[in-house]
Amino acid sequence: MPERVGKPIKKDYLQECVESLRTRGWWFSRKEWTEEAFDIATDPTWNDFADHWNHLFRDEYMRDGGTYRYRRYSAFEFDAADGSFRLLPHEPYEQSKSVNKLNGGFPRHFEPLELTFVEHPTLEKILTNFGRIFSSTTGHRHWNVKLHPYRIIAREGVSGEPAPEGLHQDGVDFIVSYMIGRVNVIGGLSTVTDVRKQPIGEVEMDRPNDFFVCNDRNTYHDVSSVVIKEPKKPFAYRDVLVIAFEKI
Ligand SMILES: [Fe+2]
Repeated sequence: MPERVGKPIKKDYLQECVESLRTRGWWFSRKEWTEEAFDIATDPTWNDFADHWNHLFRDEYMRDGGTYRYRRYSAFEFDAADGSFRLLPHEPYEQSKSVNKLNGGFPRHFEPLELTFVEHPTLEKILTNFGRIFSSTTGHRHWNVKLHPYRIIAREGVSGEPAPEGLHQDGVDFIVSYMIGRVNVIGGLSTVTDVRKQPIGEVEMDRPNDFFVCNDRNTYHDVSSVVIKEPKKPFAYRDVLVIAFEKI
């Protein structure tokens, strides 16, 4: 049976997260725990942060012909010594074909993150905390950090695929899926397996500031389709911030 991890946070919450990443290879944080540990509240500032998901662009590279994914992309460097993030010059995003069988093997040009997003205090809290967590987990200081805000939409009779490549690794060290919001969709179950592809966990993130993180070197992950709940309503989507940390 997949294991469900996580406990109510206290002061040692981040240490529990670090321990779970070391021993189990993954961690799930509920909204309340994240908000306390990261000092984040779903207030007007947070709503301003989440509004950036209304300014994404359709991913035109989907080799499955899908038109359900909207995104932007930028990369940073993180130095744990002073906790600083530095935005890198904008470049195309590229994964090898061996890592991403669906869309890997060629450069993909995406719009960069908006400056108001890059400089947003909520983003700074999120990135700084994950930087601390992964540096504590590994003892490593320098990281390349790739940010992918995604909106996956569902239409009547057409599901949206948060992980169109199926069960996969992303070829990095750690992968975070940070929930921004869900509107009028069902599905989107995240699963994690060990390297032999045996299930070790599953979670359904359904509230803002829920997050799911896994060690991408010793686990695989997948996310199930999202389908529209009420076809008569005008919108159906799932907004997530995916953050990839890779040692440099
Ligand atoms: Fe992934």
